[in-house]
Amino acid sequence: MINSHGISSSLSHLRELPIGLFDSGVGGMTVLRAMREQLPNESFLYLGDTARMPYGTKSVETVQKYALEAAAKLMERGIKLLVIACNTATAAALPLVREACPGIDVVGVVEPGAEAACRATRSGHIAVIATSGTIRGRAYEEAILRRMPDARISALACPLFVSMVEDGLLSGPLAEGLAARYLDAIFHDPREQGLEVPDTLVLACTHFPLLRKAIAHVVGEGVTLVDSAGNTAREVRQLLREKHLARGSGPSVGMPLCPGSVRFLTTDDVPRFTRMGELFLGIPIAPCTVEQVTL
Ligand code: DGL
Repeated sequence: MINSHGISSSLSHLRELPIGLFDSGVGGMTVLRAMREQLPNESFLYLGDTARMPYGTKSVETVQKYALEAAAKLMERGIKLLVIACNTATAAALPLVREACPGIDVVGVVEPGAEAACRATRSGHIAVIATSGTIRGRAYEEAILRRMPDARISALACPLFVSMVEDGLLSGPLAEGLAARYLDAIFHDPREQGLEVPDTLVLACTHFPLLRKAIAHVVGEGVTLVDSAGNTAREVRQLLREKHLARGSGPSVGMPLCPGSVRFLTTDDVPRFTRMGELFLGIPIAPCTVEQVTL
């Protein structure tokens, strides 16, 4: 329908809808945090499937089923764009979720992360650390090699990092000890033998940016740590602009805009979700903004 401004009224309705994001739990809030910084006028609806996390240890089929259910719940609530803010779910289910949400753009975190890695590396030697599911699916390797066919990639599953972060253990001897246990084989040992080590490390799991300090300490200087969050937010901003879906870009350009809201859905209890979520989001989460749902 075209209104008196010559603008499709369904487009202006769509523009006011929130951006949907989902993750297996609260880890995807590292992506939400970057999106809030880069898109302050937008509203967000974040779903954390905390009852069924972790996804990283589950089979591809199970993660695909969970991802489709999470996407359906957000679609049912009304969103203008969907972000799969989980590396494991993106690696396992991005094409399926796109097929299931034909009317809107669906953005995953793997391509933006691969893009960040290729931009950061100078030697073309890139290390990728993620959950077992993400590493098994080789999605990052493929995305990096598509951009940089000569890249050398060292990929490693670091599943215990997830439970460590979930327990709030982000720095100190235990965090550094586990990081060394995983990463010495890629960084410390080859260095001792005079071999070249990767110059870029992709934190290809929503939880790993919280361990950035401990990981940086272990891999040493000269290694750039990258993650998907910032690039994913940039891609979303670009898409919204191209599709004229950014809030404030319609007929009311220049008019005061109410700041966007953030609301949450969780599949497990609300107090744990808010407590853990605040750690990832970096700001308090009011319990009244969180609703418990079943998928
Ligand atoms: N969100 C997941 C990811 O980015 C990590 C946590 C999980 O295994 O569910 O891969």
